Amino acid sequence: MKKNKIFVACDSTNILRIKKIIKETKNTKLKVGYKFGLEFLNSKYGRNFLSKIKNKIIFADLKLHDIPNTCLSTIKAIKDLNINYLTIHISSGLKALKACKKISKKTKLIGVTTLTSLNDKSLKEIGYNKKVDQLVSHQVKLAKKANLDAVVCSAHEVKIVKKLFKKEIITPGIRFSTKTDDQKRVVTPKQAYENGSDWLVIGRPITKGNIKKNMQTLIDHLSE
Ligand code: C5P
Repeated sequence: MKKNKIFVACDSTNILRIKKIIKETKNTKLKVGYKFGLEFLNSKYGRNFLSKIKNKIIFADLKLHDIPNTCLSTIKAIKDLNINYLTIHISSGLKALKACKKISKKTKLIGVTTLTSLNDKSLKEIGYNKKVDQLVSHQVKLAKKANLDAVVCSAHEVKIVKKLFKKEIITPGIRFSTKTDDQKRVVTPKQAYENGSDWLVIGRPITKGNIKKNMQTLIDHLSE
């Protein structure tokens, strides 16, 4: 049977902590990739650590959101790193998406739709008129137009997204308990796979507290 896939969000600035997360999330039941975001990659030793990692699926969650030239230059600046997946906000615009896709080569370019920490009310606050579902659908169509390799959305929207986008769908905002932290659009791991997510991104529910125990809770939850 095909293994369920997760990206563990390695959100820390502490190398020892990151090593512990990598070590303690190793298991035979799930396929695990590692996601490094703004916190780790901007930390003093983060980039250097990433440059030395071998034989792991690496996701650089840079969430590029800038003019085409700056996004492009950033992708060029990280060419020495072996990155399998890289994020860009779809709201960077079609021109930026297309230009980045053209040069990203072996690195899969992931379009970020609407952050899972936002809901309809937050969108209104920012000045968007669309509801989350409508905005995500719109953004995904743009990702398709730019031929991106994957999209990030919440598992709430996966069913709609799957109809519009036939490549990989990656979903953060995963929770196995009622503790949602700063996330607004949360779904349980089991439900997220049932909805059609290809990869789940899981951070705090695994990395806070006893990592091995949390991994086992996840595995048990998925086999229920
Ligand atoms: O700790 P938690 O499971 O909430 O972590 C989710 C991770 O996924 C964080 O690293 C966050 O930056 C990232 N992410 C997200 N929502 C998005 C895109 C990425 O939560 N739309």
